[in-house]
Amino acid sequence: MALTRTNFLMRSTRISSLSDPQKGKGRRKALLRRVSGPLYTMNKRLEVIYSMISDGRGLIDVGTDHGYLPAKLAQNGYSGRLFASDINAMPLSKAKETARRCGVEDRITFLLSDGLDACPPEEIDTIVMAGMGGELICNILDRAEWCLDGRYTLLLQPMTKAEVLRYWLVNNGFQLDKERLVKDGTFLYQVIKARFSKNMSLSDAELFSGSFSNIQNDPLALTHTRALIRRFEAEKKGLLSSPKSSGGRLPILCAILDQLSEMEKKLS
Ligand SMILES: C[S@@+](CC[C@H](N)C(=O)[O-])C[C@H]1O[C@@H](n2cnc3c(N)ncnc32)[C@H](O)[C@@H]1O
Repeated sequence: MALTRTNFLMRSTRISSLSDPQKGKGRRKALLRRVSGPLYTMNKRLEVIYSMISDGRGLIDVGTDHGYLPAKLAQNGYSGRLFASDINAMPLSKAKETARRCGVEDRITFLLSDGLDACPPEEIDTIVMAGMGGELICNILDRAEWCLDGRYTLLLQPMTKAEVLRYWLVNNGFQLDKERLVKDGTFLYQVIKARFSKNMSLSDAELFSGSFSNIQNDPLALTHTRALIRRFEAEKKGLLSSPKSSGGRLPILCAILDQLSEMEKKLS
């Protein structure tokens, strides 16, 4: 069976970072737990997401966990409604505790919810989903058809499978308005700001790297592109030395490598 672009993406792993961010989960969690007194320090990843938020009618932070983002927004005068939601009760109570310590508990509505299920669409214009897998983010968006509307801005930070998420976004009518790379420790995170507006297309390589026009001035773009090249070169080498058929993966891999090399030249 020929390998299509879709199942090529589905079989790809560990794309969104230089090394797998999930492996450092414990260390990151420990860093995030360092909340002392009423204030806390957000890590660089959350700071970048925070910097990409504009004041508006309302915002939901899906999978809020510690709830730092809505707490900081409330503290800094975000004027719209703020919702912090999580599928699990424990993280949600952590978020409430953060808000209480910051003195903004009454500014935030806490929702125990799977994805956007309990979100009131008319009360928000911004949806944040950070620190979750790209496929989970796609599943959540898939179940909330109301967000396919130009009123909403999505701020997404997939921990894995950024290419699957970009594929979903461009195939569902979203425009990737802005993309940022964030290096925190040894990890490289991708943040995507998207809006349902006009169709846009991405090359296969851009599904992994981000749209070239968005990332070309990012100081981390060259590092990220080179990391992707190393990753795909290693995979290509493995396929070439394997006695089994590559199932059509090799030509796609070679095409992506060509596109990434072009990008590398332009970025150098
Ligand atoms: C790693 S934390 C990310 C916390 C925070 N958003 C950040 O970026 O630092 C992921 C959170 O997503 C929550 N979660 C997982 N699946 C979810 C779903 N389907 N709907 C809502 N929350 C979910 C988990 O309970 C967990 O608290």
